[in-house]
Amino acid sequence: MDTITLIKPDDFHLHLRDGAEMASVVHDSARRFARAVIMPNLVPPIVSVEQALDYRRRILAHLPQDPGFNPLMTLYLTDDTGRDEVDRVAENEQVCAFKYYPAGATTNSASGVTAIGKVMPLLEYMAQRDVPLLVHGEVTDAGVDVFDREKVFIEQVLSPLVEDIGSLRIVFEHATTRDAVQFVTGAPAKVAATITPHHLMLNRNAMLSGGINPHHYCLPILKREIHRQALVDAATSGNPKFFLGTDSAPHPVRSKEKPPCCAGIYNAYAAIELYASVFDSMDSLDTLENFASRNGARFYGLPLNTQTITMRRERWRIPDTISFAGNMLVPFRAGESCQWKLLYER
Ligand code: DOR
Ligand code: ZN
Repeated sequence: MDTITLIKPDDFHLHLRDGAEMASVVHDSARRFARAVIMPNLVPPIVSVEQALDYRRRILAHLPQDPGFNPLMTLYLTDDTGRDEVDRVAENEQVCAFKYYPAGATTNSASGVTAIGKVMPLLEYMAQRDVPLLVHGEVTDAGVDVFDREKVFIEQVLSPLVEDIGSLRIVFEHATTRDAVQFVTGAPAKVAATITPHHLMLNRNAMLSGGINPHHYCLPILKREIHRQALVDAATSGNPKFFLGTDSAPHPVRSKEKPPCCAGIYNAYAAIELYASVFDSMDSLDTLENFASRNGARFYGLPLNTQTITMRRERWRIPDTISFAGNMLVPFRAGESCQWKLLYER
């Protein structure tokens, strides 16, 4: 199979930033994806439907009139989020979920939830209103090893949460461990997970062996090879609980190369092509459309997209840098070749 046509995929986890930074990256996503779930971790964070709709207008202002790209907005959950905001999300088709950042877990998470107990009544209300919760699944305790933070989060926070509020729809974002794959696989149908291209392609050696590579630093951090393999198996299995979320997160090169290095990898430039390469390497191109275009839509209760994209098996070189609001950024797989090329969208 040397060309593949897919229902135009959706990116269920995307960081677009704002202003000139957003202007320089949004087209990469709009070309490849029909919808994207937009993360709210701006400074200050997006905490109300009103702010989310303003942000959505700013995104669409950078795109042509009829872009064929629908940004689905999210709100940043805080200790102070109120029920009225849950009601507003439940009633607005352009805002689809709340994002749970444990305070201090990652980039711009300072206003996140300080303890799950503080938001339990609100989460119960979200379950009643069937508003999904998108989880950054890492504990923040300084005493927990950074490579164990996802596993400990599952044990201490997620597993009890699913027991307590079985009816809450939860997306375990950017799963990075075999533990997460096993948990989500065994959990009720209301629990699903997204998987990024970088966690499918790299293990932690890519960041730490032969010299530290800050461009491979993201959160949750890259893990051991057994975890990468579990993610590849989950993504290619066709299991409807696993779907595409790039976690594409651009940072200017100076924020990556000067300590402390910001967490985040920019992959939107070649996201669907990179997923295709992974699926191809597993002889699983037949399950790519489920992962990229069907499973997430079904989980969120969205119609399948009507557009398509076509890719061809053809090597092309990912550039060393991309201009980013007057700065440069280093994209994922910079200077390397990608096996699949996007031909056109219809
Ligand atoms: O690597 C990451 N970058 N992980 C996150 O959770 C946030 C993101 C960002 O916003 O840069
Ligand atoms: Zn993210």
